[in-house]
Amino acid sequence: MERTLSIVKPDGVTLNVIGEVISRFEKKGLKVKALKMLHLSKEEAKGFYIVHKERPFYGSLTDFMSEGPIVVMVLEGPQAISLVRETMGATNYKDAAPGTIRADFATDIERNVVHGSDSLESATFEIKYFFSAMEIF
Ligand code: CDP
Ligand code: MG
Repeated sequence: MERTLSIVKPDGVTLNVIGEVISRFEKKGLKVKALKMLHLSKEEAKGFYIVHKERPFYGSLTDFMSEGPIVVMVLEGPQAISLVRETMGATNYKDAAPGTIRADFATDIERNVVHGSDSLESATFEIKYFFSAMEIF
C-alpha cells in the first residue's frame, strides 16, 4: 500500500471538475483517505513548490496556485504514486495521453488541473504539508 497527495488546482475548481477528478481516481481503485478545500496564500504555495524555487516558472506557478481555492487529498492504493501520475497525464497537456485528466481538461502547461506527488519522498513531504495524522483516515 502506498499513499500520495493529489490536488485539484484552482483552474480545475473553476472548471467544475472536482468530482470528475476524484471519480477518475476512485475508478482506478484508489481510496480517498483525507480531503479538504483551501485557498493557499502566495507564501504557502511557495512552500509547497519549494523544490522548484530555482525554476523560471516558480513565480508564475505560485501566483496561479494561490489565485483561488484548491482541493487537496490523500489517496491510497497499490502503487498509488505512479497510478495517480498515469491518470493525470504528462505535465504539458499537449503531450498527455488521450483519456488522461490533463489531456481532457488542461488549457496550458501551467494550468493543468491536477497535481500528484512524483516520488515516495515528495509524497511524504506533501501529505505532511497539508494534513496532520488525525486528519488521515
Ligand atoms: O506537476 P508535474 O509534476 O507534472 O510537473 P512539475 O515539473 O513538477 O511542475 C510543477 C507544475 O509547474 C506543473 O504541473 C505546471 O503547473 C507548472 N509548470 C509550468 O508552468 N511550466 C513548466 N515548464 C513546467 C511546469
Ligand atoms: Mg511535480
